[in-house]
Amino acid sequence: MADGDGVSEPVKRDLGVLLTGVGKRYDIVSAFAQHARVVAADPNPLAPAQYAADVRVPVPPIDDDAYVPALQELCRAHRVALVVPLTDLDIEVLAEARVAGLLPALVPDPEIARATYDKYEAHLLLERHGLPSPPTVLPGEQPPYYPVIVKPRRGSGSRSIMRARDARAVEFLASYIEEPAMVQKAMDGPELSIDCLADLDGRCLNAIPRTMIESRGGESIKGTVVDDRELVELGRRVVETLAVRGPCTVQVFHDSQVGLGITDVNTRFGGAFPAPMYAALPGRTYPELIVRMAAGERIAPHVGEYRAGATFTRYYWQLELDESLTPTGRDIVAPPGPPRPR
Ligand SMILES: Nc1ncnc2c1ncn2[C@@H]1O[C@H](COP(=O)(O)OP(=O)(O)OP(=O)(O)O)[C@@H](O)[C@H]1O
Ligand SMILES: [Mg+2]
Repeated sequence: MADGDGVSEPVKRDLGVLLTGVGKRYDIVSAFAQHARVVAADPNPLAPAQYAADVRVPVPPIDDDAYVPALQELCRAHRVALVVPLTDLDIEVLAEARVAGLLPALVPDPEIARATYDKYEAHLLLERHGLPSPPTVLPGEQPPYYPVIVKPRRGSGSRSIMRARDARAVEFLASYIEEPAMVQKAMDGPELSIDCLADLDGRCLNAIPRTMIESRGGESIKGTVVDDRELVELGRRVVETLAVRGPCTVQVFHDSQVGLGITDVNTRFGGAFPAPMYAALPGRTYPELIVRMAAGERIAPHVGEYRAGATFTRYYWQLELDESLTPTGRDIVAPPGPPRPR
């Protein structure tokens, strides 16, 4: 069936979607669970987001040989049509498993998964394809600008990211973080992110930019969806150049000296899931489109079709669990649900 008039079907389909590394991402799991039977897999038995799923199962650690076979078994048991990773950590493993025909994973090819997990490789890849990336060197090389940002090549969650004013500071910080590092121009302008979705053939379906007003530990906690055609087009170019499959978030800065530069490409949902949810037109939220693709539908691209203007501001929630780690259903906040407009 072709993409119709964008009207949402409120039915929960009889197909399984396996979400890995669900962690705290309750909003993502819950959004999928409105459209499909969701199996949440996380090695941590206290991962809160698993409680939004239909089925919750602990799995072995990603680097364990039993990880992929455990996911295969879940796919068989729950008739899973797509496996969607929610963190960076297993994208490469899933990409290899996809190529080997072991798992129906919604991830890019292994080379792209590897290159985007390593931010220095990502910089080289972007440059090779004529996509804007800030001036970036390795420790020991002379950067063209100061100040610079010293950060781990394979970092996530904003871990060990520091600013350096000169070569001595770079040398100290690069050895201090005790893992391979890179040195990038400290971009001085506003930071934005573009939340994109690609289909199973690497065609961009949509790209939705937002501001990054405040972030904490890799999660964007305040932001506004913006109508910025240059960023929409940049998101589409990144997705289609790299032939990404599924969700992809592109982080960019405007800089007064070098202009627009991409500082990170994550081939998974970004740290501000509510933004593209609020902005999507009816029937076109990313989880719903992914479930429709899992059901075999071909979705027509609708790049740039969204509502700008919505702002999100996020807060913590919690679940009370009994001795057997089952939710009690009690809450300390009343009334339940979001506040009414006043
Ligand atoms: N070149 C840069 N110039 C200025 N700030 C930067 C630069 N690189 C990174 N940062 C700051 O550090 C934050 C995290 O950077 P980056 O995305 O590269 O790391 P990460 O570990 O993947 O973090 P996250 O999970 O938050 O995306 C960015 O959101 C930005 O605020
Ligand atoms: Mg990042």
